Amino acid sequence: MREDRRKGSVGHVRVSEVGKVFARAGRPEIILKDCTFDVLPGRLNVLIGPSGSGKSTLVNLIAGYATPSVGEVEIDGTRVTGPGADRMVVFQETTLFPWMTLIDNIAFGPIQAGVPKLSAHEQARALLSKVGLTGFEHRFTDQVSGGMQRRAEVARALINRPKVLLLDEPFRGLDHMSRGLMQEYFLRLFEDEGITTLFVTSEVDEAILLADRVIVLSYKPTAVKSILDVFLPRPRTFQMQTLPQFAELKGATLQLLYEEALKGFVKGTAASAELDRLMAAQRSMR
Ligand SMILES: Nc1ncnc2c1ncn2[C@@H]1O[C@H](COP(=O)(O)OP(=O)(O)OP(=O)(O)O)[C@@H](O)[C@H]1O
Ligand SMILES: [Mg+2]
Repeated sequence: MREDRRKGSVGHVRVSEVGKVFARAGRPEIILKDCTFDVLPGRLNVLIGPSGSGKSTLVNLIAGYATPSVGEVEIDGTRVTGPGADRMVVFQETTLFPWMTLIDNIAFGPIQAGVPKLSAHEQARALLSKVGLTGFEHRFTDQVSGGMQRRAEVARALINRPKVLLLDEPFRGLDHMSRGLMQEYFLRLFEDEGITTLFVTSEVDEAILLADRVIVLSYKPTAVKSILDVFLPRPRTFQMQTLPQFAELKGATLQLLYEEALKGFVKGTAASAELDRLMAAQRSMR
């Protein structure tokens, strides 16, 4: 699979001059304005932005669950007009079926698509092993930890071999230790499979540790503020967070986000907690 994905360079997402307007209390509110960026094929593209800036909205537009008010989204040159099997989304909330075991959850997609159960289970077992869940195949979702559920979720998306994997803050809410472990598993998986990925996060450390490039969004009406390339080598390791290059990128990203959070704060609409969080992160770097 890795070879196919890398060679074919599939899953190039182009978001072109996208705007999105929602109604708020009966009045239109512009959430996205002139949003233009590429999700480069075979790369781990990270999207980061202030709270409420429209990250999930962008994921929904790429997934085809919503349509842009203006502009367009293309995948490998074809305009997105609705959901498709070429895109898989992993959400923050679990979507695993509680009445199925992990292996049945993961094999569900291929079985629905007509793959014989035995073969689907074989594929599911291989993926479960990649995400460290060997031995837990026959557990129900409420019999495993939150971190394990998240890993099963990623395996369930990957088994369908999408062109693009979209993850919307998949590790949000996990404790620090579990989150670190999830990042390591996810890095190994990405580096092994090479699948085009758009990963949404609001954590700067997570963004830099994972990314080949970080797409930083502005405050509403949201556009792309900056795109930072992360040239840290792969395979990535947790220890790379101590490198000067990492600290430099972290400082640059925090500065960009800080400017945007401040705009939101001045307008009185962004959570002041986010500003506090960014200021604390900046202070801890000094
Ligand atoms: N279906 C909808 N109808 C009306 N407003 C919406 C809808 N979906 C999102 N919004 C509004 O659009 C803005 C962006 O929401 P979105 O969930 O995309 O932001 P986000 O960056 O993912 O936020 P968070 O950091 O909280 O996850 C918010 O102000 C939200 O209230
Ligand atoms: Mg969101």
